[in-house]
Amino acid sequence: MSQKSSGWWDDFFPAFKPLFGIVSPATTRRHFQFLSKKLNLTAGSTFLDCPCGIGRIAVPLAKAGVKVTGVDIIQSYLTDVEQLSSKKELNIRLFHNDMRRIQFKDEFDAGGNLWTSFGFFEKESDNLLVLKKMFAALKPGGKFALHLINRDWIMANYRESDWFEFKGTKVLETRNFDFTNSISYSKWSIIKEGEEQTFDVAIRMYSYHELVAMFEKVGFVDIEGFANEKEEPVSFKNQMTYVFGTKPK
Ligand SMILES: C[S@@+](CC[C@H](N)C(=O)[O-])C[C@H]1O[C@@H](n2cnc3c(N)ncnc32)[C@H](O)[C@@H]1O
Repeated sequence: MSQKSSGWWDDFFPAFKPLFGIVSPATTRRHFQFLSKKLNLTAGSTFLDCPCGIGRIAVPLAKAGVKVTGVDIIQSYLTDVEQLSSKKELNIRLFHNDMRRIQFKDEFDAGGNLWTSFGFFEKESDNLLVLKKMFAALKPGGKFALHLINRDWIMANYRESDWFEFKGTKVLETRNFDFTNSISYSKWSIIKEGEEQTFDVAIRMYSYHELVAMFEKVGFVDIEGFANEKEEPVSFKNQMTYVFGTKPK
């Protein structure tokens, strides 16, 4: 299962790799513990991490004995996960693929599309397809988690540009919001060792109520959403949102 992709992600994510470190180990641990609890993941459970990135969640889950399958479009990310997983003798199966093209059927106890990996496609039917593919991949009774940026927070805190520096890499993001289609078009300038690279990024932003409607359309039941790992209610105050759903038995 290996596919060529074409889109803004092809160039952007390889350059983004060192910036995964902006999520602290403590935050990743909090995400991992919360997801394990909400998805009932224990040693021997099967989990589909799509897309898995550099294994931020896949690796700690595999260390806890979960049988992880990771999918990502960036081969160099998968190579890193593969090397780490063979060094640590972890149970992680990896596939190079586009998240719209996965073909798993009734296979996993749980799955996740995590840390803002949703809304990457300009065609709305493609974003819905990502949810349909995850739904198909779950066993009946399987659980799914979506963890992404909250459009209502973005609107309450909108800034046309932002910058940050992480371990010597400077990042400037300038944004343009398309209100007709709820797509954030942004230009990322990544400056490392005096060299600047620029990338155009387009992400469809979702409010919680839209995600609930999409989950229902796909067939998920027991849909619930939270502002954070403390399970506070979703509002315009939370930057990120968790949405959980279950495939009916
Ligand atoms: C923000 S990262 C999140 C990664 C991981 N879920 C995590 O929690 O750390 C988004 C990921 O989506 C992957 N990606 C982007 N476009 C993709 C596509 N069309 N199909 C599959 N993966 C894609 C990127 O390579 C990147 O690893």
